[in-house]
Amino acid sequence: MKKNNIDQSFGKQEVSNKKRERLIRSVFNKVAPRYDLMNDAMSFGIHRLWKHKLVKLAKPQANQLIVDLAGGTGDVAMKMMAKNNLVLVADPSLAMLTEGKKHHKIQCIATTGEQLALADNSVDTVTIAFGVRNMTRMEEGLKEILRVLKPNGRILCLEFSTPHKWLKPFYNLYSYYVIPRLGAWIAKQPEAYTYLIESIRRFPDQEEMKQIMQKTGFSEVHYHNVSFGIACIHIGTKL
Ligand SMILES: C[S@@+](CC[C@H](N)C(=O)[O-])C[C@H]1O[C@@H](n2cnc3c(N)ncnc32)[C@H](O)[C@@H]1O
Repeated sequence: MKKNNIDQSFGKQEVSNKKRERLIRSVFNKVAPRYDLMNDAMSFGIHRLWKHKLVKLAKPQANQLIVDLAGGTGDVAMKMMAKNNLVLVADPSLAMLTEGKKHHKIQCIATTGEQLALADNSVDTVTIAFGVRNMTRMEEGLKEILRVLKPNGRILCLEFSTPHKWLKPFYNLYSYYVIPRLGAWIAKQPEAYTYLIESIRRFPDQEEMKQIMQKTGFSEVHYHNVSFGIACIHIGTKL
């Protein structure tokens, strides 16, 4: 069982909610220019396959409003674009959104997940990739997603999770020794990547996350592991 006091932790420190929010905001503002490069380096490009699977499961269609929450530099949003649909990137970090706008034609709103600046029952699909872990009050964020979704609308949440047992020793070695060094070398922000590893370690596993989503009010909650559970896509429907 993992420790779930993620709301009040930043790396190895215990901090107040307010301070956590501030520190996380500053992490993404600092890493924004190198964020995409770092993602490719850390995952050997595999995050692209995970996002491809997320989009395939989301099945974007014409006339839909899709929100990619915690959308950062907009790579998931770009893949979600289909004929005559509207895809919005929602993220509180102006630095991440600005970086995204340099490379893609994306439409953005600056908002946190916990207080979504969107109307009730207005969105067909919410995708969120590597975002819920950064919310300081994840359950509030999930409730907000439920509020803005239309009936039968779905959330698809891609997040790091708990890998199969046999993979854990290699995964731990890689996470604790390689990623912070890559963070120092490429993004020049080793502490940001120490936060990343620690937040993954504290995040609920597949079954716990499923229960949290059910408790929030999502129906038909199920999940697909990717790369032996290193990451996982949870799907839920608003009935
Ligand atoms: C790891 S990045 C993920 C970016 C993109 N979705 C991807 O998959 O590459 C996490 C994003 O969450 C955003 N974020 C941080 N706190 C948030 C919050 N409270 N609500 C919504 N997004 C948040 C950050 O600004 C950042 O862009």
